[in-house]
Amino acid sequence: TPNTLIDRFGRRVDYLRLSVTDRCDFRCVYCMAEDMKFVPKNEVLTLEELAKVSQAFVNLGVRKIRLTGGEPLVRHNIMQLVEQLGAMQGLEELVMTTNGSQLQRLAQPLSDAGVKRLNISLDSLQPRRFRQITRVGHLEQVIAGVDAACAADFERIRINAVIMRGDNDDEVLDLVSFAKERGIDLAFIEEMPLGRIDDHDRALTLADSDWLRAQIEEHYSLCALGDPTGSDGPARMYSLEGSRSRIGFISPHSNNFCHLCNRVRVTVEGQLLLCLGNEHSVDLREYLRSPGSTTEELQTVLHDAMAIKPERHYFDNSEEPQILRFMNATGG
Ligand code: GTP
Ligand code: 5AD
Ligand code: SF4
Repeated sequence: TPNTLIDRFGRRVDYLRLSVTDRCDFRCVYCMAEDMKFVPKNEVLTLEELAKVSQAFVNLGVRKIRLTGGEPLVRHNIMQLVEQLGAMQGLEELVMTTNGSQLQRLAQPLSDAGVKRLNISLDSLQPRRFRQITRVGHLEQVIAGVDAACAADFERIRINAVIMRGDNDDEVLDLVSFAKERGIDLAFIEEMPLGRIDDHDRALTLADSDWLRAQIEEHYSLCALGDPTGSDGPARMYSLEGSRSRIGFISPHSNNFCHLCNRVRVTVEGQLLLCLGNEHSVDLREYLRSPGSTTEELQTVLHDAMAIKPERHYFDNSEEPQILRFMNATGG
């Protein structure tokens, strides 16, 4: 059986983003439609199946798994899977992206189970606006969650903020202060066109990273921190003068990073997605659920799938078809 994952462009895949649910207790305007339909329970991978997929990836040289959603912490009994992955031989880095709503209760247990780093989504520090962006979320709950995470033993914590022009673009410096006060990182993400949303016109509200960086540099000096491989993924990180915090920019529009891609995704339906911005995929659930299937067979399927990993996404080419899959069903 094969033991590494390398695609046609020579990119080594050593990072799995595993979506453990497409459900969420929020309904962020850039992530979901208002009347979202979720995957029916019988089509969702079980915790055992998720662990089996993870093991196959680790056998193939995957060293990092990020648990995503939807909101990973609304999945029933998720801590069982976290504990299992936390103890998995060969998996060096277990991390999670969360909306923060459950962290008052779960931050310390996650850290105890071996989650090393957390990315927490937070787009506004104004209660009414936070409610409008998430449609249903409570700001004070998330801030308390961030503070619970800061008090727990994580190696690093990062705030993720999607900035939309004409909406929360006046909060860039407030978000920087929020991160700086806590000594945690902050990444600004350019919104990606996944799923048809009707809340705003993404082409008009896109806040490109250079513009955000210029706003910050009017008040702070930023110093670039080397190339965006390593453990920072696609974020281009900068140190923030006089602070432990680092500021990052994830710029799928203004600074394509696909040539550095080291990751694949598995959706909660067991679909292996070779690229966030393309439809190329393989149905893993079929293999997982066929009688007598083995982890070795699954490894062969994963290995062979590398042949269809696309070179890059083309978000800004109007001739490319719109991706209908929403971010919550994609695994972030
Ligand atoms: P690490 O790589 O683990 O540091 O994290 P990350 O920044 O990839 O993870 P996170 O879940 O916080 O995602 C932040 C943003 O980056 C989200 O909007 C993701 O959709 C986006 N993102 C992550 N991976 C990719 C990718 O391969 N391509 C594109 N275009 N966006 C990505
Ligand atoms: N474009 C960019 N980022 C998005 N996220 C959700 N939807 C989108 C989108 N359309 C972000 C969330 C979270 C991360 C996993 O992805 O804010 O921080
Ligand atoms: Fe939920 Fe995150 Fe999507 Fe918001 S962005 S709806 S918190 S999965």
